[in-house]
Amino acid sequence: MIYFDQAASSFPKPPEVGEAMVYALNEAGANPGRGSHKLARDAANLIQETRERASRVFGCTDPKKALFYPNATVALNQAIKGYPLEAGDHVIASSFEHNSIRRPLEYLKKQKGIVVTYIKWEEDSNQFIHNVKSAISSNTKLIAMTHASNLTGAILPIEEVAELAHKNSIITLVDGSQTAGHTEINMTAQGIDMLVFSGHKGLLGPQGTGMLLVEGNIQLEPIHHGGTGAHSESVGQPDQWPEKYESGTLNTPGIAGLNAAMKQFEKRQNENVPRETLLAKKLLTGLKTIPGITCYGPDEHQPRMPIVTFNVRNISSQEMAMILDSHYDIAVRAGLHCSPLGHESLDTMERGAVRASLGIYNTDAEVNTFLKAVSEIVAAYEQL
Ligand code: ALA
Repeated sequence: MIYFDQAASSFPKPPEVGEAMVYALNEAGANPGRGSHKLARDAANLIQETRERASRVFGCTDPKKALFYPNATVALNQAIKGYPLEAGDHVIASSFEHNSIRRPLEYLKKQKGIVVTYIKWEEDSNQFIHNVKSAISSNTKLIAMTHASNLTGAILPIEEVAELAHKNSIITLVDGSQTAGHTEINMTAQGIDMLVFSGHKGLLGPQGTGMLLVEGNIQLEPIHHGGTGAHSESVGQPDQWPEKYESGTLNTPGIAGLNAAMKQFEKRQNENVPRETLLAKKLLTGLKTIPGITCYGPDEHQPRMPIVTFNVRNISSQEMAMILDSHYDIAVRAGLHCSPLGHESLDTMERGAVRASLGIYNTDAEVNTFLKAVSEIVAAYEQL
C-alpha cells in the first residue's frame, strides 16, 4: 500500500520506537514516580530522560516544564484553558487553526466572555503579519497559532508574530503538531512561550503521546486534578512542575517510544530541506500538469510542509479518496480535516478536499504511482 496520510498519523515508525515500547513494557513496567523500588525508578528515569530530550530538541530551558499528555489536543486544552484569561481578554489565532485550538477558544468565548480574532491566512506573509499587528489591542493576552496548516502545509511566520507579541507583552502558544519532526523548532530562538506537539505525526512516535513545553514564568491553572505521586498529604494539587500538571499514571511505554523517536529525529534534525518536503513538491508539480486539478496552498517554490491538497473537477473529495483506496491501495485523507476555518478560506466547505501528506519513508516511485493513479481517475471521469 501507499500511505499518504502522514499528517493524520505517521506510518510506519522506525523499528527503534516499537523496540523501546516493548522494553518499557517488559523491563520498566512499574509506575513512574509512585514508588522507590528499582522498577519504579527505571520507569521514572525513562520519563526523565524523555523530558530532557524533548527540552533539548525543542529549545526549552527547563525540563521540569516539559509535560506529557495523551495527545496534542489535551496539551492545547491545558495551555489554553489553563492560561489566566478573563472576560474581555483578547486572543489572536489564525484561519488555519485546527479544532484543537479553535474549540477550546470558542469554549472560553462562551464560558468566560473572552474575545477571539482569527486572522485570515495571506499568501503574502508580510500582509499576514501586518494584519496580526493591526489586531493587537491593549486587551490582547495570548496569540495561539499553528506553526503550519494541517490543510495546505503553509508555514506561518511564527518568529515575526512572536516578536510582535513580545513587544506588546503578549504570550505565544504555538501548535507544532504538523511541523515537529519535519522542521526545526526552537522555543528560545523563535520566541515561543508555550509549544505543543503530537508525538505520532512527523516525529514518528506512537499514538497516545503529546507534549506541552513551557518557557519563563507562565503560571497555568491545571485542568486535571488527582494523584501525582508527590505531596499526597495535601488536598490540593502540588505546586511543583511537572506534577502539578500531570495527574494520574503516565503512559510509560508510549513515552519510551516517543523518546526513541526523538532520538532518531536528532540525527536528521539538521537536514536543509527534508526529503519528504522535496517529494511533496514533486507531487504538487506533477498534479498541476493534470487537467482539471485545483491545488490549494503555497506553490512548490515556497517553503512548505509535506502536505499537498487538491480537488479534481467536480468529483467529491470523499469519492476521490475512496477510489484511491479501493482501486489503487493508496491512503489519503478527504473531507474537512478538523480545519473548517481553513476550508472556509479556500471555499471548499461543501466538498472538502483531498489531502496527500508524506513522510520520511515515502519514495519517489510512490509519488509517480500516485500521479499515474490520479491521471487515470481523471481520464475515466472524462469518459462518463
Ligand atoms: N490533525 C490530524 C489531521 O490533520 C488528525 O489529519
